[in-house]
Amino acid sequence: MTATADTEAPWHIVGCGRMGGLAARYLHAAGWPVVVVRDTSATVLRLAYRDADGRALSTLELPVRPPRALPTISRLLVATKTPFTAKAIASLTLSPEATVLRLQNGIGSLDGLLPAGCRPIEVVTASAVKSAADGALTVVAENETVFGGTPAPAWWPALQSRWPQADWQTDIGPAQRAKLAVNAVLNPLTALYDVDNGALLERADIAAEARHLAAETDAILSALDADWPGNTLERVYEIAGATAANMSSMRADLRAGAATEISAINGWLVDQAARLGLATPAHTAIIARIRARSP
Ligand SMILES: NC(=O)c1ccc[n+]([C@@H]2O[C@H](COP(=O)([O-])OP(=O)(O)OC[C@H]3O[C@@H](n4cnc5c(N)ncnc54)[C@H](OP(=O)(O)O)[C@@H]3O)[C@@H](O)[C@H]2O)c1
Repeated sequence: MTATADTEAPWHIVGCGRMGGLAARYLHAAGWPVVVVRDTSATVLRLAYRDADGRALSTLELPVRPPRALPTISRLLVATKTPFTAKAIASLTLSPEATVLRLQNGIGSLDGLLPAGCRPIEVVTASAVKSAADGALTVVAENETVFGGTPAPAWWPALQSRWPQADWQTDIGPAQRAKLAVNAVLNPLTALYDVDNGALLERADIAAEARHLAAETDAILSALDADWPGNTLERVYEIAGATAANMSSMRADLRAGAATEISAINGWLVDQAARLGLATPAHTAIIARIRARSP
């Protein structure tokens, strides 16, 4: 039997850009009403999806509502870039037991921002979406997406049946930390040196910095998790090789003069280290260098 969504409560999306747009496609396909939350005069958002070869996949029209026009929200998906999280949800009214999906890189960007009683669900994805010049969303890579942080809710089978390679891990910590560890090395270095990901394998100066960052990352994550594999540098080289010609999101943000996600990535590691009494000279320095170059 095909799993079906209970359609009583719509999903509201704050941050319906590339990732939020991808999530909207699957939430809609699973049968839920989907509403985009944005303080704008537009009342409809038209999304067009393409595959990596530019072939049209589908289109979707979603209602857009400003926060002030919304009733109490019981299902929210947050997919802004992390620096905009607080502002994006500030004027929303969430029901006391609202479910909140956080589809963002980094860790902790919603900490302290949700009413007690909310059910936060973390989403870690290896998929990649770009926007084309005409605004269409190009699904560059469809890879594993892990949801979790709580036991799976009753509606999970409906979404899983529509979201390719979606998996549930009640303890999502290991998946989050594995992604964050790679991001904490690859993103700031490619951003600061303004290079494609593959440069980490080619440039000795960048590789030397990568070793320091990876060693600190492994020390922090080993202190947090006795099972941490301690393989950050190996994973960084693996991803840098597999995505050699790609531009990291932090490099793209820096180039665009936009705020970066450094606080939710390297900042999270430094906060953990401070709690544990560990030194982080490499991460502290790279955060300062990124902040000096971004708004
Ligand atoms: N794109 C990917 O392939 C990918 C892959 C893995 C993880 N991620 C993660 O997913 C998250 C989202 O990234 P993204 O690439 O989807 O970013 P994005 O395309 O820039 O989308 C973010 C969206 O948030 C909107 N927004 C900003 N402030 C808002 C506010 N106050 N209220 C409502 N909406 C607001 C933006 O609208 P405006 O454009 O109008 O400002 C934009 O549509 C990030 O944490 C990123 O690291 C992305």
